[in-house]
Amino acid sequence: MEEQAKRKTVLSGIQPTSNLTLGNYLGALKNFVAMQQDFDSYYMVADMHAITVRQESARLRRRSIETLALFLACGIDPEKSTLFIQSHVPEHAMLTWVLSCNAYMGELNRMTQFKDKSARHADNINAGLFTYPVLMAADILLYQAHLIPVGADQKQHVELTRNLAERFNRAYGDTFVVPEPYIPKVGARIMSLQDPTSKMSKSDPNPNGFIAMLDDPDAIRRKLRRAVTDCEGCVTEDDSGRPGVYNLLTICSACSGSPVQEVSRELCGQGCGALKDRTADAVIAVLEPIQREYGRLLGDKQYLTDTLRQGAEKAGRTAQKTLRKVYHKVGFDSVKA
Ligand code: TRP
Repeated sequence: MEEQAKRKTVLSGIQPTSNLTLGNYLGALKNFVAMQQDFDSYYMVADMHAITVRQESARLRRRSIETLALFLACGIDPEKSTLFIQSHVPEHAMLTWVLSCNAYMGELNRMTQFKDKSARHADNINAGLFTYPVLMAADILLYQAHLIPVGADQKQHVELTRNLAERFNRAYGDTFVVPEPYIPKVGARIMSLQDPTSKMSKSDPNPNGFIAMLDDPDAIRRKLRRAVTDCEGCVTEDDSGRPGVYNLLTICSACSGSPVQEVSRELCGQGCGALKDRTADAVIAVLEPIQREYGRLLGDKQYLTDTLRQGAEKAGRTAQKTLRKVYHKVGFDSVKA
């Protein structure tokens, strides 16, 4: 019981919009799985965030379930973690409104992701794109999360969440835990195979730049064989200054569990081809069982439906507790009896 009381809460979310990559696995999902042992964890499929850009509804619905299945296939255990789809818990939208009334246009205007996205979707600069970080703050604050594992691109949104939490706590008295971004040390940065100075991204127009979690073994080998290294040609004792080679060493190390130094010691003097083959073996050994389990889960619709219903209920209980407090503090009648 004491133990339980001391456990910190982690929360993170992934949008269901496209194929997740090996970078998402090594930088996020793998850590989510490890963290569910030590933390009270909430993992969410962020479908409400997804509609800030135009989505085809049938596709979004399918992707949300597939993303949930992928979380499960990676080892998120719905008995240990709360795994749910954001739109199933209406409190996210409800808290977003209250927080919106405490967020300044100026601070939202400074969000670099809003600037990037509005440049990329110039024909659809909707208000949701602008208030997206407030929805994200609601996701986090509803569950009183302490630690938010996110990539560097989301750090600014967690900072905003902290500011909103502190501002609300000052105005209305202690209500929210003030969260911290949690950027894991290992594997957080897997780079593009074609441009190892930029992050591996699921939206890379060149599919050779990334390995999708659902790529088959042939595709994985082919993409790794084409990975950009450099003209030195072989692995040396310290390749930290060689982005292409170092990226492969990092991937190989993260997938095989041996430290980078060990992988480079073993391959020292051998050509980049050997490194690529070794990396492909390690990646396939990690992804194949996940893919098998993913396929099995997609065939078990009943289990998926039960899991997401149970997740929505569990998440809903925590979310309702927080929202009730918030509603009371701002002067609304309490939500439900
Ligand atoms: N905005 C995040 C992304 O696009 C996803 C997300 C939504 C999230 N809600 C969250 C991440 C809450 C961490 C916490 O990657």
